[in-house]
Amino acid sequence: MFSDLREFLKALEERGWLKRVSEPLSPELEIPEVLRQVMYARGPAVLFESVRGFPKWRVVGNLFGSLDRIRLALGELEEAGRRLLEPMASPPPLTLADKFRAAVELFELGRYAPRAVRGGPVKEVVEEPNLLSIPAFKTWPKDAGQYITFGVLITRDSRGVYNLGVYRVQILNEREAVVHAQIHKRAADLFASSPGCVDAAIAIGGDPAFLLSGIMPTPYPLDEYLFAGVLRGGGLEVTKGVATDLYIPARAEAVIEGCVDVKDLRREGPFGDHYGVYDQGGLYPVFKAKALLRREDPIYYGTVVGRPPLEDAYMGKAVERVFLPVLRFLLPEVADLNLPEFGLFQGIAIVSIKKRFPGHGKKVMFALWGLGHMMSLTKVVIVVDHDVNVHDLNEVLFAVAQRVDPQRDVVIVPGAHVDVLDTGSPVPGYGSKLGIDATRKLPEEYGGRPWPEEVAPDPEVAARVKAVVEQLLSL
Ligand SMILES: Cc1cc2nc3c(=O)[nH]c(=O)nc-3n(C[C@H](O)[C@H](O)[C@H](O)COP(=O)(O)O)c2cc1C
Repeated sequence: MFSDLREFLKALEERGWLKRVSEPLSPELEIPEVLRQVMYARGPAVLFESVRGFPKWRVVGNLFGSLDRIRLALGELEEAGRRLLEPMASPPPLTLADKFRAAVELFELGRYAPRAVRGGPVKEVVEEPNLLSIPAFKTWPKDAGQYITFGVLITRDSRGVYNLGVYRVQILNEREAVVHAQIHKRAADLFASSPGCVDAAIAIGGDPAFLLSGIMPTPYPLDEYLFAGVLRGGGLEVTKGVATDLYIPARAEAVIEGCVDVKDLRREGPFGDHYGVYDQGGLYPVFKAKALLRREDPIYYGTVVGRPPLEDAYMGKAVERVFLPVLRFLLPEVADLNLPEFGLFQGIAIVSIKKRFPGHGKKVMFALWGLGHMMSLTKVVIVVDHDVNVHDLNEVLFAVAQRVDPQRDVVIVPGAHVDVLDTGSPVPGYGSKLGIDATRKLPEEYGGRPWPEEVAPDPEVAARVKAVVEQLLSL
């Protein structure tokens, strides 16, 4: 568990996973270009020690550009998902001993709750906000401007439930920025049900588990500060903001406090996104800054997106692994899940299931499309049997080729909601879904016939000829 970004950077550097650049570079196109090239080469995290035009700041990027680095930040990924389910996953406490165990588990959950402190390094400097003083990236030549690409937007609803979300934020001027929270996301839901200017804070740089909580599709009404605590394995230190009533992470590098004016919608974009095209954006609400809190020597963390595989490919894998236990909790037949990096996460999902009844494959695809936004936005779902390795795309292709009858096994759902960024859909956010049931068919699905027996060698013969084969292959 890391207490802040600096501690994480130290750990990365000790392992040789972080490199420094001392040459002055600009956040406008230059730093993003370096980061992109390093990411495509699957290279290290990079700390830019001299940022042209921003003498107070350093910039770090590609923090999460490998699964090793993400595991260093979060530990065993599926473990975090399991921690979340612990209190619900056991049988009900009937005996006194069980009740005691349940009480201990609840106490454990309390360990993950945020801890309020009075001060914190984020309050070292409190100043009038100037969004242009932050080294936010201009990533692609035709982007509309500078974007905070990995700010964690902190909001709280009327019940007091906190949301943390990473949504790109386009800086308009010293005090205004547009928040691209898409309609299916939790912040957009809050904005839709709020009348005026919703208190909000944008955190820049923080401990890695807090940062990654911002991209996790945590279902409402789970409080995301609590979720961040579960992910890090201990409660996050938070402190009261100075311009809002919100709690903000006490050890962040910087926080901009203000509010999101849901009545003031402005055009956002174009922005080169992870579909590899310039998204033309749309109308989104404006964040109005009230105060800038920061460390004396803040470090800006930003990411770059574009055609895969960039840093978000690994972030997507983290989401997939952390939420797999939750998915299995809701759909116990699910064995494994692959959201392939080139499938753009919302584009293609491959899921393996322990099939028990006719139509089971289709049941699972519709269930996935009916879940929260992590799965429901998925355009193409491929369902395979549990003995297919979903991470081996050739095994998946083989299952599709061997087990699919298009008329019986392919489902097209017209008029469905899709990712707002999806380049293929006829209208942003509205298109169709494709499901492929590539499981072996049961007699009811197969004209009453049993599924043909699959070939397998005689084990004795295979063992007998092993030495001959080994000799042949070593030649
Ligand atoms: C690098 C990166 C950029 C993202 N940008 C956006 C964005 O601009 N808008 C958006 O709605 N989601 C964006 N997301 C996805 C959200 O972070 C993700 O859906 C998250 O679950 C949102 O939080 P919520 O579930 O609390 O709404 C981005 C994710 C990553 C990794």
